[in-house]
Amino acid sequence: MNKQRKLIIAGNWKMNKTVAESLALVRGLKIELANIKEVDIVICPPFTALSEVSKAVIDSNIRLGAQNMSENGYGAFTGEIAGGMLKEFSCRYVILGHSERRQFQKESDELISKKAQAAHANSLKPIVCVGETLAEREGNKTEQVLETQVKGSLAGLTKEQMVETVVAYEPVWAIGTGKTATTAQAQEAHAFIRKQLVGLFDENVAKRVRIQYGGSVKPANARELMEQPDVDGALVGGASLDARSFCVFIKNSI
Ligand code: PGA
Repeated sequence: MNKQRKLIIAGNWKMNKTVAESLALVRGLKIELANIKEVDIVICPPFTALSEVSKAVIDSNIRLGAQNMSENGYGAFTGEIAGGMLKEFSCRYVILGHSERRQFQKESDELISKKAQAAHANSLKPIVCVGETLAEREGNKTEQVLETQVKGSLAGLTKEQMVETVVAYEPVWAIGTGKTATTAQAQEAHAFIRKQLVGLFDENVAKRVRIQYGGSVKPANARELMEQPDVDGALVGGASLDARSFCVFIKNSI
């Protein structure tokens, strides 16, 4: 598949995998994915596994990401993790504003934008998640929600930073439910997000930003999703926990 933007496929392991399980998964991924050059491959293990996994992926084509970080630098913030700490483990990416954090930790667009700025200050590329709930979709509010989240979560980023930011469109109703958005629904939302980026930044920035789709993606729907002109990769939850399904997903995407 010849796309203008390089595909980026990231595995979001969420709160799963011990260190030993993480290493076993990485072993499988390294063997299966060694020859893949067409896709930026990212895995986002839990914080507790970052140290060991970072050593295991040295000299591979697998890049490391974290699932969250603090908007603050070092200091008196009990239980938080600073961007600088993630850099110690060679993290290149960090997922921000996942819908589970928006829902359970009450993260706001304003907080997510501060985290995105802190990520860039530490040379981490944020993967900023946006997406509507089922009630919002059924109430015809999808565009309104996406507009608000895109504008709010990406506020304060420079054009240069935006180009190095990934946006993940994850309809909340499709996450972990086995219900994927149709390719038409995904493309429509991605095109809408890109249009917002034109307004907030400019045409050139919007053309370069990669927008991932997330929500019950699996090997069987990889190709048709990646064929959509504005879909530039995927944020994979459940299907990234198993080496075979994540590898087949990536191979089916190219
Ligand atoms: P899922 O999760 O693939 O298990 O639906 C995606 C995500 O939450 O990033």
